[in-house]
Amino acid sequence: MTDGNYTVPGLSLEDGHKVAHALQDRLNALNDLQLTLKHVHWNVVGRDFIAVHEMLDPQIDAVREQVDDIAERMATMGVSPKGTPGAIVKERSWDDYDLGRATCEEHLGALDVVYNGVIADHRKAIELAGDIDPITEDMLIGQTRDLELFHWFVRAHLENAAGDLDTRGAKTEKGAAKKAVGASKAKKKSR
Ligand SMILES: [Fe+2]
Repeated sequence: MTDGNYTVPGLSLEDGHKVAHALQDRLNALNDLQLTLKHVHWNVVGRDFIAVHEMLDPQIDAVREQVDDIAERMATMGVSPKGTPGAIVKERSWDDYDLGRATCEEHLGALDVVYNGVIADHRKAIELAGDIDPITEDMLIGQTRDLELFHWFVRAHLENAAGDLDTRGAKTEKGAAKKAVGASKAKKKSR
């Protein structure tokens, strides 16, 4: 049993545990994200290697803090956070990151899709928390603000002066990687 017989003061046991259980999915997503960002940090290659490699570590540090905050909020609300790799793989609704060793363009394109998914689901969790628990909502809002900033850091590499994203319309990591490479080649040709 993962649920304690308590939650935070002022909430019913049912409401407190409902919010905490919703946080497990966000814990899985951010645990997955910090691993994926490290994987990219190690596997990115090409001319802009050092820029992308070094851009990612502060994001990883920040996401790891978010993971800790979510897990501790769950425990505070009386639900045991599951932090094992098995829990992530068993419960997640998304696939493993699709790229191994790949260029900066490819990884940045794929990360645009990764951040799209994590942030959209964080916003859904904000809505659920907002109806019940403003403290959890506040935590998720702060996290989403930072995740959106990191998403912009990624997207700024994929944007042209007119504000068009190279990855526009891409739904998958591989699809976004391909579009980012195509756009990069087209830019070089037009120089
Ligand atoms: Fe490193």
